[in-house]
Amino acid sequence: MTVRRAAELLSAASSGLALTGAGISAESGIPTFRGEGGVWTKYDPVKVASIDAFLQDPAAYWRVSKERGGIALAARPNPGHYALAALEAAGRLAAIVTQNTDGLHQDSGGRRVIEVHGSGRTVECLDCGAREPRSDVQARLDVEMPPRCTTCGSTVMKPTVVLFGEPMPVAAMQEAFALAREADVMLVVGTSLVVHPAADIPLAAVRSGARLIVVNAEPTPFDSLAEVVIHGLSGEVLPEIVRLLGGR
Ligand code: APR
Ligand code: ZN
Repeated sequence: MTVRRAAELLSAASSGLALTGAGISAESGIPTFRGEGGVWTKYDPVKVASIDAFLQDPAAYWRVSKERGGIALAARPNPGHYALAALEAAGRLAAIVTQNTDGLHQDSGGRRVIEVHGSGRTVECLDCGAREPRSDVQARLDVEMPPRCTTCGSTVMKPTVVLFGEPMPVAAMQEAFALAREADVMLVVGTSLVVHPAADIPLAAVRSGARLIVVNAEPTPFDSLAEVVIHGLSGEVLPEIVRLLGGR
């Protein structure tokens, strides 16, 4: 029983680490990027979510981001998020590394959440550096496209997320890789593991001897490295693992 095996591995974990992707937020209503109905099946990521495309035409970026951003702002954590927070609170996970920018790990009680692709909850003016909550900016997108900086009037405002072609946040990546090298169990949830360097984090953990658990709706390139592979919905599988652990 693979869920039982996953619970056994996690029950013995003293420096576990989780890496999550869009799949853990799918049951909160936020579309994933790849696979069925994914965002990148409708838009070309390079045209829409690269820093070059953004700088050329911020309005084109914001027209797509307005839709996804509105969904993410309205989204609430699902049982998968709460289960990871429970594993962290029980000391089974040292931290939750996420590629997601929706803030749902924090909303569900995650304490040490490392956002390697930044946060969609804040918007920054690239001209003057002023920052605003995304919810404030979202509220004026119907009448202001692209949004204008309330401090300097610039229209080059960008959510504090990592676009294709942008460098990764150095501190977050250093922290994630340091934890990966220390990890005894690496729990990967809801990610296609095709985007690097984020996908190198579980590789660093496995190379340092961590036991790998993959919970994903469909096969990933790392399944063959995993001690446990569970193809299922994180909102169902993770609470079952926590139940088997008896909350320990
Ligand atoms: N439970 C578990 N897994 C799920 C669920 C679910 N309920 N729903 C979907 N999945 C799986 C899909 O099968 C897919 O393999 O989650 C994975 C999501 O993969 P992607 O859409 O590629 O998302 P992610 O891996 O997070 O993408 C990485 O790519 O576009 C960039 O910056 C973006 O952070 C993102 C990065
Ligand atoms: Zn400004």
